[in-house]
Amino acid sequence: MNEPGDPRLPSTHDGAPVGPARRARLAAVAVALATALAATAVAGDAGHGDPQRGFELLRTKAYLPADFDQEVFDRLWTTWEEPLRSRAEAAPLAERRRMAMERYGLVADPADASRSLQYVVDDRGLWTMSCLACHQGQVDGRAIAGVPNSDYALETLTEEVRQVKIATRKPLAHMDLGSLLIPLGTTAGTTNAVVFGVALMRHRDADLNVVPAPPQLSYPHHDMDAPAWWHYRRRRQLYADAFAPKGHRVLMQFLLVKENGPGQFAAWEEDYRHVEAWLESLEPPAWPWPVDAGLVARGRGLYAAHCAECHGAPSRDRSVADGYPERVVPLDEIGTDPVRFAALSAEQRRSLAGSWFGRGAAEPRPGSDMPAGYVAPPLDGIWASAPYLHNGSVPTLWHLLRPAARPVVWRRDGQARYDRDRVGLVVEELPALPAGPLPAVERRRHFDTTRPGKSAAGHDFPDVLDEEGKTAVLEYLKTL
Ligand code: HEC
Ligand code: HEC
Repeated sequence: MNEPGDPRLPSTHDGAPVGPARRARLAAVAVALATALAATAVAGDAGHGDPQRGFELLRTKAYLPADFDQEVFDRLWTTWEEPLRSRAEAAPLAERRRMAMERYGLVADPADASRSLQYVVDDRGLWTMSCLACHQGQVDGRAIAGVPNSDYALETLTEEVRQVKIATRKPLAHMDLGSLLIPLGTTAGTTNAVVFGVALMRHRDADLNVVPAPPQLSYPHHDMDAPAWWHYRRRRQLYADAFAPKGHRVLMQFLLVKENGPGQFAAWEEDYRHVEAWLESLEPPAWPWPVDAGLVARGRGLYAAHCAECHGAPSRDRSVADGYPERVVPLDEIGTDPVRFAALSAEQRRSLAGSWFGRGAAEPRPGSDMPAGYVAPPLDGIWASAPYLHNGSVPTLWHLLRPAARPVVWRRDGQARYDRDRVGLVVEELPALPAGPLPAVERRRHFDTTRPGKSAAGHDFPDVLDEEGKTAVLEYLKTL
């Protein structure tokens, strides 16, 4: 069992069938988990929301129409390629479910291993996507509160759900249809979430009334790596370009499906105060393995000299700088992929800030509707949030520190294993995509940095360090 305040979620990865005794134990674990997680809340930080309630709402309350039912989930294996399909067919139900979770990058709910934290499952067996789909992952097989889900294979899951529904004559839901118009994520672990938001906001006025808008056929599609939620408390404005005002209403954008009208948003507002309290309460997780103290000390000095001006003082080490500057670095200086930056117009940024979502939020920083580039995020808990950069194009911190050695193509193995030496995902590095047609599921396991929106270039600042300096900074980054 974890110590109180330890932000790990307990692992339930053995895939054993859930009998009554095990169910009781898991229920006890869930209560202890919520209590332990709530114990990380900082008094006074949370406004009048209750963090524990916020986490429970995320885990148990559906805010969107259901995506599929249990029967569809339990038949997904029928769409898989061989030999996986035969293995699944021969396996007991619990093992088959575990295989499905692994394939789609889902994390078992500590309270019930047959469910995933990514979807709320109701008493009728209906599965509904939640914020945790993209915002609750695992590291080295363990769920850590607020760690982004770097394994989520939304596009593959949606395609296979659609196939099963068509085969079993079940009605298609909003995702099954939406994904025919908008790509959901071309690489596992990343999603086209920003464009979902843009497309949904097009059909609303400032008070969130549904308004007619002509269909828009071309969008600046691009995949993003969700940021760690434990940064929320340190941010004053949100997103990769720090344009959005911070507040509980802004958190609700993802719920803009046509079924949810303005009245529904108002009715759920209180829930999202609790959700915001959960986000505010999260602490960066501590590196669980030994470090070399001498290297760390050397790395600290180099960080203070070369990194702190943009990334500020880590939560755990305020000795290296004053606070967190939330500095936005112009695109030509940072040199990372420009597609996300160009995807939003000043008018779109302004219309979010001026809508119901922005009302009551903290006053946006002047000029934030026209940011110059990307924000330097806090580096708290950075060891746990691979892959790196806003588009998730760099698999480890070792590669982040060595711009010239970043792979052109890298491949993950299903739910990626953790690389303690290079700090990040265990990946295979390739000079290019394998020749010949790749099945879509396999193609999505490859991150191809030559594709639009997927460049791993830029952020060359670490090159002021020599090889030994980079080794020392890597060691220091583990401790943040
Ligand atoms: C389909 C994946 C997905 C889902 C579902 C999702 N998010 Fe996100 N979220 C993202 C991505 C990607 C970003 C980064 C966007 C950017 O920076 O432009 C993000 C950014 C954020 C941020 C800003 C964090 C920061 O440091 O800037 C917050 C807060 C957040 N999401 C909360 C939520 C909440 C609350 C929900 C549920 C109502 C939710 N998200 C649902 C993918 C998702
Ligand atoms: C001039 C400002 C600046 C300096 C100096 C700088 N960075 Fe950054 N850093 C950024 C920005 C901006 C980003 C986000 C870029 C993006 O996502 O496209 C970033 C991203 C990162 C990331 C990835 C964060 C994530 O969550 O994916 C790491 C790690 C990082 N920097 C480490 C360092 C280290 C170590 C140094 C010092 C050797 C350093 N940075 C120096 C501005 C800076």
